[in-house]
Amino acid sequence: MSDIKFLSKLKLDGIKFRRLTYFDLARVKWLNELCLPENYSWRTWLGLYNLFSDISFVAIDTKKDLACAYCVNKMDEGPSFWNKNKIIKKGHVFSVATHPDYRKRGLATILLALSFDAMFKKGAEEIFLEVRVSNTPAITLYQKRFKMDIVGRVVGYYHDGEDCYVMAVPRIRVENLIREIVRYVKDKNLLEYE
Ligand SMILES: CC(C)(COP(=O)(O)OP(=O)(O)OC[C@H]1O[C@@H](n2cnc3c(N)ncnc32)[C@H](O)[C@@H]1OP(=O)(O)O)[C@@H](O)C(=O)NCCC(=O)NCCS
Repeated sequence: MSDIKFLSKLKLDGIKFRRLTYFDLARVKWLNELCLPENYSWRTWLGLYNLFSDISFVAIDTKKDLACAYCVNKMDEGPSFWNKNKIIKKGHVFSVATHPDYRKRGLATILLALSFDAMFKKGAEEIFLEVRVSNTPAITLYQKRFKMDIVGRVVGYYHDGEDCYVMAVPRIRVENLIREIVRYVKDKNLLEYE
């Protein structure tokens, strides 16, 4: 239970969450360009939307009816990070960001929890992502909130030469936590269209 004490401190007034819609795509592309150096073409965003809108989420500022944070994900298949001989389905957090005016309120926490839950429901046994080795806020979020481990480091992964950490977590380690967060989101009526 102590795992979810933080939920009562989140500042989610005026915020709702929903699955990524076509109408959010332009705003997601804009948020991505505002928040991260890793940017993608329309074709990429559209392709991700077509394939993975059921496992990708946005946070909406209901006063403006605009997305203020997003988490876009993919499903992959490959060797387990904990057992290289075992081929499993894996959830891949492709890109996550919160507009600077909305940070430290819990938006990324909720988006990641909704994303993990959706990817688990599609059969993911592990969730993983890449993160810049200098990105302390994001690394803290993944380690502290989602119990993710650093399972690898790829030298020169980013276009400017920075390394990434590969971080991952097995489903079994976080499924109770995720269930509690998703229950909270539903109890508080924070989901649109569900
Ligand atoms: C990383 C990012 C997505 C976090 O979004 P957010 O909505 O502010 O995150 P949350 O409010 O859910 O934060 C949850 C926890 O993450 C950690 N965290 C978030 N921001 C942090 C910061 N600036 N410094 C240290 N820890 C931080 C804290 O543990 C925080 O819990 P706390 O508020 O109780 O201290 C946001 O800072 C961002 O958009 N950064 C730029 C894009 C980016 O780096 N994306 C990740 C790429 S891998």
